[in-house]
Amino acid sequence: MNSNKFLIINGPNLNMLGTREPETYGSLTLDQIKEFTEKSLISDQVILEWYQSNIEGEIVTKIQEASKHSYKALIINPGAYSHTSVAIYDALQMIKYPVIEVHLSNTYRREEFRQVKLTAKASTIIMEGLGKIAYLTAVKTQLF
Ligand code: DQA
Repeated sequence: MNSNKFLIINGPNLNMLGTREPETYGSLTLDQIKEFTEKSLISDQVILEWYQSNIEGEIVTKIQEASKHSYKALIINPGAYSHTSVAIYDALQMIKYPVIEVHLSNTYRREEFRQVKLTAKASTIIMEGLGKIAYLTAVKTQLF
């Protein structure tokens, strides 16, 4: 048990940040966002475990493993799986501590198919449109 530890899961195509649609997602890579987030949280003494996969089943397995641990919170950007994945929704339902779903973009300003968020129904908090400060802000919600 490590109550200052957060698991941050990123789903498909988020490994392509930096070059992927920068007008929507910004110009930073996922590694640069990680570095920015870690540096901004230095004085909070939190531990962040980062995981990214393009594969739905791998994300499900990671969430199952997380259900056996006690993180302070699980932060997840499921990417497009947010709109389609009952399997990720079911896995998130097993998490007994806060689940925070984040989207870098404000999906409500985007296509109709992004308006359905299956996984968000299993989350405690949902945050959208914060860009590079999304993960940092998600962690901060648990530190007050
Ligand atoms: C996203 C939004 C999703 O609709 C999209 O499929 C992504 C990224 C976001 O962070 O804004 O891959 O989750």
